[in-house]
Amino acid sequence: MTERGAVVTIDGPAGSGKSSTARAVAQSLGYRHLDSGALFRAVTLGLLRSGIPEEQWSEVSLEQLEEMRIQLVPSGTGFDVEMDGDIVDKALRGPEVTQRVPKVARIPAVRDWLLRRQRAAAKGGGVVVDGRDTGSVVFPDASVKVFLTAGIEERARRRLLQDQEEGQEPPSMRAVRREAERLAERDRQDETREIAPLRRPEGAIEVDTTGLSFEEQVARVVEAVRRWG
Ligand code: C5P
Repeated sequence: MTERGAVVTIDGPAGSGKSSTARAVAQSLGYRHLDSGALFRAVTLGLLRSGIPEEQWSEVSLEQLEEMRIQLVPSGTGFDVEMDGDIVDKALRGPEVTQRVPKVARIPAVRDWLLRRQRAAAKGGGVVVDGRDTGSVVFPDASVKVFLTAGIEERARRRLLQDQEEGQEPPSMRAVRREAERLAERDRQDETREIAPLRRPEGAIEVDTTGLSFEEQVARVVEAVRRWG
């Protein structure tokens, strides 16, 4: 594992392949992958478990966030998200959390708290971070910034394939359209919020992955990092 190295940010809309790309890029470079979305999901899960009524979530205090005991624990080529001493992973991906996370991501105290967590985890470099504002707000001085995009139906199709068990039929057009509507709604919420909206960070390389294979999109980012170093 590299002790010192670049901070690479990969931002983009839901389903653009950020996390899987970031993971593969980190592996290829011997860096660590930090999935910032998992942190926003962990806070959402923490709020659901806390019993705080949803209409009061926007008032969440620093003490209440600290009480959730959310930690990033280095593991393999990434970080595990721990909550109250347990690794949370599957629980972060359920519909209860996914639906509410854009609302939680709009709370300034949450963003501020997670910003500090992300910067602490990336100290020393050698990290590939993916999210919505990692190149614009969290790491404005990142060595390499990437903005990943893909057509909305392509993103919906990938999302559905990702959730499928092996050997299942490919998703129907109807299922793809339904998922595309859900993604469009999440994009809208992430792009129109006042605080740290989703947008292409200044100086970012834009990679449209619609017609690229996974290996090609990973190679584009790895090449950009090699050019930097
Ligand atoms: O990437 P993922 O789908 O796990 O992110 C879940 C949600 O967390 C996003 O829809 C967005 O609302 C929020 N998020 C964010 N800023 C980040 C990462 C995620 O606002 N850097």
